Amino acid sequence: MQKSKNIVWHDGTITREDRAKKFGQKGCVLWFTGLSGSGKSTLARELEAALFNMGKNVYVLDGDNIRHGLNNDLGFSPEDRKENIRRIGEVAKLFADAGIIALTAFISPYRADREGARNLMGDGDFIEVYVKCSLEECERRDPKGMYKKARKGEIKSFTGLTAPYEEPENSELTIDTENLSLETCVNDIVEFLKEREIIAD
Ligand code: ADX
Repeated sequence: MQKSKNIVWHDGTITREDRAKKFGQKGCVLWFTGLSGSGKSTLARELEAALFNMGKNVYVLDGDNIRHGLNNDLGFSPEDRKENIRRIGEVAKLFADAGIIALTAFISPYRADREGARNLMGDGDFIEVYVKCSLEECERRDPKGMYKKARKGEIKSFTGLTAPYEEPENSELTIDTENLSLETCVNDIVEFLKEREIIAD
């Protein structure tokens, strides 16, 4: 909700099209969502490297990192997660406006919050990527030992165990990290970006 009054929006003279032409890519947001341990950050980082090596301007916004800075006042209640996603949505939108391919890696467990982020952006600028992996496999991986702690009751409201994860119903992409190699997952996304003409070869 907007608190400040007497503020006026200013458009710049450089358009999205100008930037796309200059940079050889369309700014957009790839919104990775999935359980903790599903592979969001790993996939986003690997994709970032692949796109960077193709000469693309790309940047990862990652849940654990952003919670150290911009969102260090937020916890894991539904309200705080909503605010977490709202702020990231706004930041990612700025990146896309600047012509960058922004990759966001947040659990973003609530459908309504993800839709909120989608609705901030223009058609086609928001690409939801469901990083699909069963709870059993995420718990087996447990890269940060979080599931173990949560099972012992040391972490409250832990997604997948004591807090909900609402699976996407209409994501642009579903990436099955349980059954596919990291390389295949990355290639599938790169191909998608080419088909959508976000990047050229
Ligand atoms: S989100 O739900 O608000 O989108 P976000 O992606 O920013 O979550 O942060 C998730 C990361 O915080 C997890 O990967 C995990 O390392 C850590 N974490 C700490 N407490 C929790 C919790 N209660 N539920 C989920 N993740 C948690």
